[in-house]
Formats: sequence, structure tokens, C-alpha cells
Amino acid sequence: MGTFLITGATSGIGRAVALQLTAKGHRVIGIGRDETRGTSLESDSNGQATFIRCDLASTEDIDHLFSQLKEQGVTLNGLFNNAATFGRPGTPERLTHESYNEVFDVNLYALNTVTQRAIPLFDQGASVVNNAAIVGHVKFPPMLAHYAASKAAVIALTKTFAHRMKGKVRFNAVCFGPIDTPLSHKLYGGEAKFKEAMTHHFRGHAAHPEEVAPVVEFLLTDASTYINGQAITVDGGYTLS
Ligand SMILES: NC(=O)c1ccc[n+]([C@@H]2O[C@H](COP(=O)([O-])OP(=O)(O)OC[C@H]3O[C@@H](n4cnc5c(N)ncnc54)[C@H](OP(=O)(O)O)[C@@H]3O)[C@@H](O)[C@H]2O)c1
Repeated sequence: MGTFLITGATSGIGRAVALQLTAKGHRVIGIGRDETRGTSLESDSNGQATFIRCDLASTEDIDHLFSQLKEQGVTLNGLFNNAATFGRPGTPERLTHESYNEVFDVNLYALNTVTQRAIPLFDQGASVVNNAAIVGHVKFPPMLAHYAASKAAVIALTKTFAHRMKGKVRFNAVCFGPIDTPLSHKLYGGEAKFKEAMTHHFRGHAAHPEEVAPVVEFLLTDASTYINGQAITVDGGYTLS
């Protein structure tokens, strides 16, 4: 059984992946900012997940996280870089440098820093999965240029790390279509509006996080040893329409 570090494990896709892995007997170290949801992750996983509070927008917090992991002598079998923000939406003509920074600080720079700090802790055959999105890969909503650009950059970083590590550590990106999570609800202006918009998906609805969590488990574990340096779209056919 392995030990996996998951950022954004307190909600949505990250939480579902954490529970998927712990149900299979793995240990999870789950990162987020919300202590209450962190505690609930620990209890829902029967203590197989440990929550560590860390604001990924703060380099000091990331440094503190990794000094704790080092002190505890943690070795990792995988990393799911999942946490992200879409910031404040706006037209590409108007998005400010500040808006770009807010999104890139978490979605790209923190992901890069966490990856760099995690590499020395990796056990042989470790795997990194980066949560990109169809946004930034095959679909480009006009109000989310900063978010899309950050996700495109995540894909480039994924492939670059994969190339550099020559298979000693595998790196793949997942590009999900719409998933029913608090982030999507916020983006669409509420859960009801999100659900209404998803009736146009030819499945009639988005995926629940539990439906896509096994894909991440597959990429994080030895079931997928020959998949490396890929950006894999998982969207139920959404981008066909
Ligand atoms: N939902 C979709 O339709 C969709 C589609 C494609 C890709 N994605 C990607 O999937 C990932 C997860 O999104 P989700 O939909 O599951 O969203 P979510 O339910 O809102 O979860 C986001 C997670 O990220 C954490 N997080 C955000 N900012 C953080 C920060 N500064 N420091 C630490 N943790 C932070 C949150 O933790 P706290 O609240 O505890 O801080 C939370 O656990 C994101 O990368 C998103 O871009 C989502």
C-alpha cells in the first residue's frame, strides 16, 4: 500500500480521490485550508487520511508543510496536484495582472513548488497526476483566459517534468470536463444554474467526483506504468458537442 499527497483534498475531486485511495488501504496526506472539512476527511476515511492545513498561495506554508513531512520521515508513492482557483472571471481584454497572479500563484507556481519539494520524498516508481482541465486544452471560455492559460501551462509543465525524469517518476495531466463540485457551482452562479447548464451535456448532467476518482487512482498507481507525459481528457464526450 502507498502514501499519496493530495492538494485540495477537502472538497470535490480531491476529496473523492482521497476517499477512493483510502478505501483501497492507501494512506493519504490531504492538503487544504478549511480545518472543518479537513477533520471530516480524516473521520470519513477512518483515519487513513491525515489533513495538513496549508495555503498554497503562501510559499511559507508550503515550506512548513514539507518540513513537517521530512521530520516525519514520509516517503511518497504519488502526488495529486489538484487544488486550483479560477479567480475573478473577466474578458481577456480586461483581465488585470493582479487577476493573473491570483490564479497563477495557486494553479501553476504552487503546483510547481509542491512538485519540486515532493521529488526528494518520492519512492521508486512514484507517479504525479496534475489536475489540468478541458479548459486550457481543448475548450477556451471567453471569461476565463487566466484560468485556461494556467491549465495550459500545467500541461506543458507536466510534459516537461515527464521528459526530465525519464520515467523514474511518471507525470500525467488529467483534463476533466464539467464535474459537479462547489467550484463549478460557483463558476455558474449557483448549483441550480450549473445543473440547468449541464442539461445541454449529451449525458444530461455532469459527472460526480466519485465517477472520475478511479481515473486518478489508475494514473497514480502501478496499474498505469506505461502511461507517461500525457494529457488525458475525461469528459464523457462533452467536447464533442
Ligand atoms: N469542477 C470541474 O468542473 C472541474 C473541471 C476540470 C478541472 N477541474 C479542476 O479540478 C480541481 C479541483 O476542483 P474541484 O472542482 O474539485 O473544486 P472544489 O470542490 O472547489 O475543491 C477545490 C479544492 O482546492 C483547495 N484549494 C483551493 N485553493 C487553495 C489554496 N490556496 N490552498 C490550499 N488549498 C486550496 C480547496 O481547499 P480549501 O477550501 O480547504 O482551501 C479544495 O479542497 C481544480 O484543479 C480544478 O481546476 C475541475
